[in-house]
Amino acid sequence: MGGEMSMAGAGAAGGAGGAGAAGGAGAAGGAGGEAGDVGAAGDGASAAGSGSGGAGRSILIENIGLLVTHDAGRPERSGAAIVIENGRVAWVGDSTGAPDADERIDAGGRCAIPGFVDSHSHLVFAGDRAAEFEARMAGRRYEAGGIRSTVAATRAASDAQLLAGARRLLGEMRAQGTTTVEIKSGYGLTVADESRILSLARTLTAETTYLGAHVVPAEYIGRRDDYVALVKGEMLDACAPHSRWIDVFVDEGAFTVDEARSILTAGIARGLGARVHAGQLAVSGGVRLAVELGSASVDHCTYLADADVEALAGSAGAVSQDSGGTGGVPRGAGGTGGAADVAGVGAVWAGTVATLLPGVEFSTRSPYPDARRLLEAGVQVALASDCNPGSSYTSSMPFCIALAVREMGMTAAEAVRAATLGGAQALRRTDIGHLRVGAAGDIVLLDAPSYVHLAYRPGVPLVHSVIVSSTQ
Ligand code: NIG
Ligand code: FE
Repeated sequence: MGGEMSMAGAGAAGGAGGAGAAGGAGAAGGAGGEAGDVGAAGDGASAAGSGSGGAGRSILIENIGLLVTHDAGRPERSGAAIVIENGRVAWVGDSTGAPDADERIDAGGRCAIPGFVDSHSHLVFAGDRAAEFEARMAGRRYEAGGIRSTVAATRAASDAQLLAGARRLLGEMRAQGTTTVEIKSGYGLTVADESRILSLARTLTAETTYLGAHVVPAEYIGRRDDYVALVKGEMLDACAPHSRWIDVFVDEGAFTVDEARSILTAGIARGLGARVHAGQLAVSGGVRLAVELGSASVDHCTYLADADVEALAGSAGAVSQDSGGTGGVPRGAGGTGGAADVAGVGAVWAGTVATLLPGVEFSTRSPYPDARRLLEAGVQVALASDCNPGSSYTSSMPFCIALAVREMGMTAAEAVRAATLGGAQALRRTDIGHLRVGAAGDIVLLDAPSYVHLAYRPGVPLVHSVIVSSTQ
């Protein structure tokens, strides 16, 4: 995208309204043309001022019924307008007093929100596990070992097949309003397959995560110490150049806290930021380990001890970007790509975010995480899709928002915040997830007067159009 803005109609009604975006959901089909952008906008790019946001160009979106900026003093405003210039939000205010711009888009009273930041996905894989899903719906329990069947299919697939699958999912994501995505490896589990998955993922996003410690692969059963040594040795050497983050699945049937500590510590020593999967299947020490190691996020958090909630709540808060260190990004935050090193539009979140993945509970018929307990304890919460063929084969952040509101005790405002700003915090990014002046101009227009409709009208394609300015 090279810093240029693009716009794609995404919903079924795309192109019908004042914003005039062209193309239906397929407009996102050019997914993943450049690093970090959730799908090049493809055919929709020439519509309504799109593709024209090169150096010096400005776009005014006016007549926004409700605009969510996440500005601390005024997180949302009605009758609003926003100006994007050089790919950044340059002005926010009342529509009546909006400045002129090179191009004008009439939002027609729609609600505008920041693009979704999907901070947890596993998009590079082959095959599907529909039969396993059906068995679960008939009463079978989800087990981490199912991952091995996707590993076998992924190892057998070509690079072109893996990339085509990931691009298809990125296109789905873009059509549903996601503008930044994190992608994990974890379905290769050999040195060659993990590094090729990450090098493919790197062509799609800057937010790549090395997850060699997803499960112990079949050929290492009975030799798990050897596999752990491989993950933190030769496999880490091959994968670190393609990764910003390192992750370990700490749970029943996966890795222990001690194994995870040794793997994550090795990754941090290589300059990767830590992330952890924990609390999906049972309480473990994985959440406290994540906090102890300064992990940016601990994901799932379905089963939590009181001590886990206290540890998350007590993890460090926001840190000014001017505080020195690696671009202001503290402790184990991942310094390889400089992706967090952005314009001065806020403070980097230095604590450990609890990333909730309600698509997993939906798809495994499990109890949902208790978001209220976390929010009331003062924990920063993110929502993500966990898009993968086993536990959560959804690419839809609106679906996750609907589940969070219906099943997890979140208000619609909290859920939208968690799906945007929360995701940015979980990636230690300050340039995305909000629409304050200086932010990336990543904006979703909803075919609705309010974001509440994302939960109130579940399953309805409410994303009218998506404007993407960020480059990573
Ligand atoms: O995040 N929990 C571990 N990994 C994935 C599941 C992967 C799979 O079942 O294939 C998850 O849910
Ligand atoms: Fe996951």
